[in-house]
Formats: sequence, structure tokens, C-alpha cells
Amino acid sequence: MSEKITIAIDGPAGSGKSTVAKAVAEELGYLYVDTGAMYRAITYAALKNNVVDDAAEVIKIAQNADLSLKFENGLTRVFLNGEEVTDKIRSMEVSSKVSEVSVIPEVREQLVKIQREMSSNNSLVAEGRDVTTVVFPKAEVKIFLTATLNERSERRYKEFIEQNKNISFEVVRNNISKRDRIDSSRDTSPLTKAEDAIEIDSTSMSIEEEIKLILSKVDEIRDKIKQEKISHHN
Ligand code: DC
Repeated sequence: MSEKITIAIDGPAGSGKSTVAKAVAEELGYLYVDTGAMYRAITYAALKNNVVDDAAEVIKIAQNADLSLKFENGLTRVFLNGEEVTDKIRSMEVSSKVSEVSVIPEVREQLVKIQREMSSNNSLVAEGRDVTTVVFPKAEVKIFLTATLNERSERRYKEFIEQNKNISFEVVRNNISKRDRIDSSRDTSPLTKAEDAIEIDSTSMSIEEEIKLILSKVDEIRDKIKQEKISHHN
């Protein structure tokens, strides 16, 4: 039987986590877990119910949420209480509130529980802000992916333009910069580099190079596990 491997990737908004994590998961046939999509889904529901500024109500939404992710043809489809919210969770309205929802410890607790359940029977690639530090601190491969604020804003801006969304570069850049600040300074599970994570600056690397680097780390780890098994048997 092949060994269960967890690959955890953290980094700020627009660092390229999703692209790289998806590609690595597809290459290895592992489950892909977009933890940011989960925080976005709770934020979307809170906005829809007009309770986004009421922490007690947001906690209730998180605790009662029937949340599922389905990875299909390079896209994560997100379902919340039977409703498909895949596109709705990517709106600027959700982006501008998601960091505030993500500071609520009870919301995090609930989502972390779901994330760990997903890993119980599967090798997976998880990406987010706290997957290397809090959710999967014992992950076999841990990556901290960064890029400059400008580069990350450019990437997000291009995505919005490609989707014909009418938005200015300044609005995108301000949103990312504000999220960076909140995500990195909150009390519960802030975005930080785990001591044993490999830092990759994606400003200066191609996606292909990043993928290759991560896959080579996975190979190393698998070899190490195999060697340990052999020496254990002898
Ligand atoms: O990866 P993303 O941009 O879709 O994430 C949206 C927000 O969700 C991010 O700004 C902070 C929050 N988040 C979090 O707090 N913890 C995670 N593990 C993933 C995302």
C-alpha cells in the first residue's frame, strides 16, 4: 500500500498557491483542498443573511454549514447547504470581508475540523494561511509561497479583467494589502512561515519550476519513508 502524504502550502493572496497546489495534486492524483474557499463560503453565507458583522451569527453559520468541495477539470466546485457557490465566493464583496470572518476563532475551529477530516483517508495537497502551522503541522512537505505585493496584485487584476469584471488595479491592490495585514496579524493562526517550511519566492520563478521543485521534495520524502520501512523490517 502506498504511504499517505500531506503537502501543505501557505502564502499570501495572489502568491500562486492555487495554481501550484492544483497542478501538484493532479500530477500525483491527490485530493486538492482549497481552504480559502471554505472561509469564502462562510463569508458569502454571512453576507447573504446580512449578518457578516455579527460574530455570533457567523459562528452559527459555520457550525451548521454543510460544506463540500469537489475538484473537477481543474476547478474546485464549492457547495454550501446544497447551493453551488463556486463563482459567488470569488466576488470582490466576499474578498473584502473574508479576512474579518477568518479572525473568528470558532469559525476557524470548525473549518479546521473539516479540513483534518478530509485528510484522514487521503493523501492531499492543502493550501491556505495556516495549513503548514496549525491544520497539518506534521505534513510531510511544507511550502511557504510568496511574491511581491505588486506582482500578486497584477495577477489578481488580470484574473478579474479576464472575467470581464470592471475593477481598478488600485481596488485590487488595496484589497490584497489589507488582507495581508489582517491575515498576518490576527491572534488566532496568523499567516506565518513555519520554521521547517521551504520558502519559494514565486516572483522570480515560473510555475513549472515551482511545480518541479515541490514534486522533487515529494519524491525525496517518499524515498525516505521507503528506506525507513526497509530498515524497520531488517
Ligand atoms: O486563499 P484565498 O485568497 O482564497 O483566501 C481567502 C481568505 O481566507 C484569506 O484572505 C484569509 C482566509 N483564510 C484563512 O484565514 N485561513 C486559511 N487557511 C485560508 C484562507
